[in-house]
Amino acid sequence: MATWSAPGKVFLFGEHAVVYGKPGVAMAIKPRVYVTVRKSRNPTRAKSPYIDECFRRMGVRGSVYIHSQLQSSSGLGSSAAVTVATLCAINDEFGIGRSRDEIADIAFNIEKKVQNGRASPTDTYVSTNGGMVLITGNSKRRLPPQGLQVVVGNTLVPHSTAKMVEQVGSLQKKHPDVANPILDAIGALTLAALHSINNPKELGQYMDMNNALLEALGVGHPASSKLVLAARASGAYGAKITGAGGGGCIIALCPRRSKSRVAGAIEACEGKAIITTIDTDGARKE
Ligand code: PMV
Repeated sequence: MATWSAPGKVFLFGEHAVVYGKPGVAMAIKPRVYVTVRKSRNPTRAKSPYIDECFRRMGVRGSVYIHSQLQSSSGLGSSAAVTVATLCAINDEFGIGRSRDEIADIAFNIEKKVQNGRASPTDTYVSTNGGMVLITGNSKRRLPPQGLQVVVGNTLVPHSTAKMVEQVGSLQKKHPDVANPILDAIGALTLAALHSINNPKELGQYMDMNNALLEALGVGHPASSKLVLAARASGAYGAKITGAGGGGCIIALCPRRSKSRVAGAIEACEGKAIITTIDTDGARKE
């Protein structure tokens, strides 16, 4: 029997703009998905196309038990975390000997297949390796980890990443003169924010700016605006949509002492709050 876990992720900066080759910064966060795999002649497991694909690609059969701290379809990378943890547990239980890079690569291909060709390699990379990652085009670079204090606010409004990416695509085609400067500005502020990575106050201001630009791209939602405003009013340095928008989650960067106040404010607005920080382990054996 082998149990592995893998973390979720948030976008600190640059979602949507990364689709157009601009830089973005993603970070693994502490809530995890735990997966236990056991060799078995009569496998029992949760019905999931991700897990079916994991076994098919690794060429074995077994039973699976999943315990997840991550809500699915919220933009926190839960499908990537399930896939990565399952592949690692199969790899370990059956002694297959795949490397971490190979696991990230297989996981990305599984996400792509299950999601009909639309998947971002960011989720699987961040979940496998942990830490903070700068994404530019096809390249990914791990950044020195920062002890950022974060509260995630889930609007509980389900969203579709594919739909939101398509919506931004339509805007960009219809009004390139309007949309392109917004995407450029998101890229520019992502790079500027990296220079302030040790200054949470400034980082918070960049988050606020990023949120305004995401709203300008049309991926805002009344529920996320409510949570962003509540987080700022209760002491966050800054707050923004994280991920595709149109519902989903927000993140607030907070002074350590304000985390529970910010979480309370989010819950008072009918959001679900998660107090968290960076995960630097990535996929790990339990
Ligand atoms: O909602 P999420 O966490 O899957 O994030 C999507 C991020 C986008 O930039 C909108 C799309 C992508 O593939 O990077």
